[in-house]
Amino acid sequence: MDKSLTAFVELIKQSESIAVLTGAGISTSAGIPDFRGPKGLYVTRQYDPEKVFDINYFYHDPKPFFAFARDFLTLENKIRPTYAHRFLTHLEKEGKIKGIVTQNIDSLHQIAGSKNVYEMHGSFWQSHCLKCSKEFSFDQMKKKLGEEEIPKCSCGGVIKPDIVFFGENVKYYSESVALAERVDLFLVVGTSCVVYPAASLPHYVRGQIVIVNQSKVSLPLANIALAIEHDIDETFTSIVQRLGYKI
Ligand code: OAD
Repeated sequence: MDKSLTAFVELIKQSESIAVLTGAGISTSAGIPDFRGPKGLYVTRQYDPEKVFDINYFYHDPKPFFAFARDFLTLENKIRPTYAHRFLTHLEKEGKIKGIVTQNIDSLHQIAGSKNVYEMHGSFWQSHCLKCSKEFSFDQMKKKLGEEEIPKCSCGGVIKPDIVFFGENVKYYSESVALAERVDLFLVVGTSCVVYPAASLPHYVRGQIVIVNQSKVSLPLANIALAIEHDIDETFTSIVQRLGYKI
């Protein structure tokens, strides 16, 4: 572990441009469960993912999704960015990080202060009526969720948050590929790398790749310099100490 951390610090020091792909694992210490980790949503099945995140199911019956959304937005009031989110913001301010591609819909990167964030699976910031396309803000949607089982527009259409469901196109894909192609160092943080197209991004990287993820990530790529199978916040705490940053 010690050797890997020293090597990781050297890679960060040498790199002039870094990009990051994050997944649910970066937010678990903030209290948001991941999907496929030991306490993940797909393991505990607190919500049935086939129903909650499938666009065709949503058209058929949006109730399971809105039950999830209601819980998620209640949680959102209490959650704060993790040490890892703040570390990545610091690296962006230092000029090293050029962009973060996230599969997460919790917006914790932006709340931590990161600027160049591609929310590939969208977010709750905005919602739209499926019938007349009217836009609703985060606050309007939150209010509606508190009042209506299925939030509806005045035209009668169902309002859907702009998050990406299975069966829909991801956002910012070409920008994310361009970012992956041009950086010296690409960090894969807290994602099992099984959901495409996000999982394809490491394949575009011409520089070095470092993975920080508790469980093994199956990426058969020759340019993986390090795979640190350890807690994300603990790993970055050690890295920060070695870099001498104050976070
Ligand atoms: P996963 O749940 O598939 O992967 C999260 C990874 O983070 C797991 O491999 C965990 O072992 C790891 N992990 C969790 N907590 C950690 C910690 N504190 N330190 C280190 N590692 C930790 O989540 P994603 O890869 O983000 O899509 O899932 C991708 C997509 O699948 C999601 O965006 C979502 C889901 O279906 C949609 O809903 C469209």
